[in-house]
Amino acid sequence: MLIDVRNVTKAFKDENSGFFSRYQSVLKGVSLSVYAGECLGIVGESGSGKSTLGKIVLGLEAPDSGEVVLGEAIADLPRHQAVSVVFQDYNTSVNPRLSVSDIINEPLITEPLEKTEREARLVQLLEEVGLSADMLERYPHQLSGGQLQRVCIARAVAPNPKFILLDEAVSSLDVSVQVQVLMLLQQLKRDRQMSYLFITHDISVASFMCDRLLFFKDGEVVEQVDEMHRLKAVENTYTRELLEAASYLQIPLETEFEKQ
Ligand SMILES: Nc1ncnc2c1ncn2[C@@H]1O[C@H](COP(=O)(O)OP(=O)(O)OP(=O)(O)O)[C@@H](O)[C@H]1O
Ligand SMILES: [Mg+2]
Repeated sequence: MLIDVRNVTKAFKDENSGFFSRYQSVLKGVSLSVYAGECLGIVGESGSGKSTLGKIVLGLEAPDSGEVVLGEAIADLPRHQAVSVVFQDYNTSVNPRLSVSDIINEPLITEPLEKTEREARLVQLLEEVGLSADMLERYPHQLSGGQLQRVCIARAVAPNPKFILLDEAVSSLDVSVQVQVLMLLQQLKRDRQMSYLFITHDISVASFMCDRLLFFKDGEVVEQVDEMHRLKAVENTYTRELLEAASYLQIPLETEFEKQ
C-alpha cells in the first residue's frame, strides 16, 4: 500500500447560510488505498468532492475526521518527493513570468546541482515528456495547451515522486491531444514505477487510463470496479448513467446488462 485514505470526512461552511452557519458535507467517510504501480481512478460528477479528496491526499486541506496514511515506501520522504500533482488548469498552475526552464526547475531549487548538471537534468526531463530542449527558454504564452501541460508533467516528475495525483489532468485539452498526453502519462508511470490517483469526470478517459475505478457521488464511493473488463457490468444506477452517457461505448448498455 502506498497511500491509505481512512474514513475521511470534510464539511465546508455554506457561504450563503448567514448568521446561522450551515455546513455542507462534502466527504462522508471515504476510504481507499492506492497500491504501488497502479493507476486508481476516481470518477464522479462535478461537485461530488473529488478535488477536495485530492487536496486532502496532498495535505493541502485537513480532514475533519479520518486520516491519510502514507505507506512505508514513501513515509520517510519529504512531502514533495513522496507525492506530486498535475492539475487541470495548466494556465493558472504556472507563473506566466517564468520560463519553461524555471518552471521545471521549481521543485529542484533546493537540490545542490552544478549548473551544467542542472541544465542536463532539465533537458532530460523535457525530452522525457516529448518536448525538445529549445523550449527551455520559452514562456507559457508561447506554448500550446498540450505543450504547457507536458511542462507541468515534467515539473511533477522532476523530484522523482512515487505517486502523482492527476486532477482532471487532460480535461482542458482537445481529444486528440488528450490521448497523446494519456499515453505519455502511462509511459512515465511504467518507466519511473509510479502510482497515480487519477481524478476525472470522464469515464472513457478513466477506462483508458486506469487499472481500477471508484465511482464517487455526493462525497461517497458508490461503486468499485476492480477489473476494467467488468466495467459494463456495474450495478449502481448512477454509474450506469455515467456509462450510458459515455460516447465511447458503441453498444446499447441495456442489452449488455440483461445478459448478466
Ligand atoms: N474551500 C471550499 N470552501 C467551501 N466550499 C468548498 C470548498 N472547496 C470545495 N467546496 C465545495 O465542495 C463541493 C465539492 O467540490 P469539489 O471541488 O471537491 O468537487 P469536484 O468533484 O472536484 O468537482 P469538479 O468535477 O467540478 O471539479 C462543492 O460543492 C464545492 O462548492
Ligand atoms: Mg474538481
